[in-house]
Amino acid sequence: MSSEMLKNILEQPEIAQRCLDMDLSLLESLKNPDSFQLLACGSSYHAALVAQFWFEHLTGKLTMVFDAANMVDRQIRQEKNNLLILLSQSGTTADIFKAVESISPAQKSQTLGITNRSNTPLHKFCTQTIQTPAGEELAVAATKSFTSQLILLLKLGLSINSVKDSFIESLSEQISDTIESCKTSIIATNILSKNRLIILGDGINYPIALEGSLKMKETTYISSEGSSLGTFMHGPIAIIEPGFPVIAIVKKGFSKNAETLKKLERLKAYGAYLVGVSSETHDIFDQVLQVPETNDLLAPIINVIPLQLLAHEIAKQRGLDIDRPRNLTKSIDQ
Ligand code: G6P
Repeated sequence: MSSEMLKNILEQPEIAQRCLDMDLSLLESLKNPDSFQLLACGSSYHAALVAQFWFEHLTGKLTMVFDAANMVDRQIRQEKNNLLILLSQSGTTADIFKAVESISPAQKSQTLGITNRSNTPLHKFCTQTIQTPAGEELAVAATKSFTSQLILLLKLGLSINSVKDSFIESLSEQISDTIESCKTSIIATNILSKNRLIILGDGINYPIALEGSLKMKETTYISSEGSSLGTFMHGPIAIIEPGFPVIAIVKKGFSKNAETLKKLERLKAYGAYLVGVSSETHDIFDQVLQVPETNDLLAPIINVIPLQLLAHEIAKQRGLDIDRPRNLTKSIDQ
């Protein structure tokens, strides 16, 4: 029997198209903020971290991201002409509302909520709201709601800077191609008996390494850590031993980047079982989760798909309850 999670993953090409077709002109009143603040938890937090790269790259404006679940000893700063974006697929996550309790009325006057549901506490709090068109997501692990958040955030970044967005027109097709080309079964079998896993991604792919790791933990219970490739060299590499599974999300053309290759070679030298999320095959990899070559800005949306599929496949081969993992709820509302 097919799981809800797999259904949700396979729905993503269609939902991506719905996101692309959405008219965001109602957000015109939000144009030209001098800075952005994004607040979220879990997968939504990872989407916010990707948006930080997009907004800073596309608008050149300061973009701050807050993990609403970790606001102890920290407050959201008061900024003038700032857009505060609250991201939550459920629209009900209590940590988000706790984090904004103390913000001033001025700060509150430009608030955008992005959620996958209608009529939520997020709608009551925010001055404007966009609903991601993912439809109900029954599996606990967020997949289609996550990519919907990403696509709308990218569209928002592009519209704020009036950047031509024709390069995203083929996104739905690219997600379809990714689902088609990713063969996860053998890799899942090879990782199945391991209890630890590392996912590496640099720059805009770093939040995707975090999100892939979250999917692994949520659905397979493998202790998975996300890191940038560079940071991993500064100490964590000590944990690598023969057979240790490492998944590296690499940028297109990585094989011409001597620095990246050198780091991957070190991992191989210490015995890592190295899986690439890559548009190129390369001898350095034991296996590749093949993705289509894409625009750098779209890469995070594409690269998360193989990680969702792999997490699903490992959970399936482990015989776990994929849609209702132990100890978890869809959102933490209290
Ligand atoms: C819980 C769920 C996560 C989810 C997070 C944020 O921790 O287990 O999977 O990402 O809540 O949920 P939200 O509805 O605010 O996006």
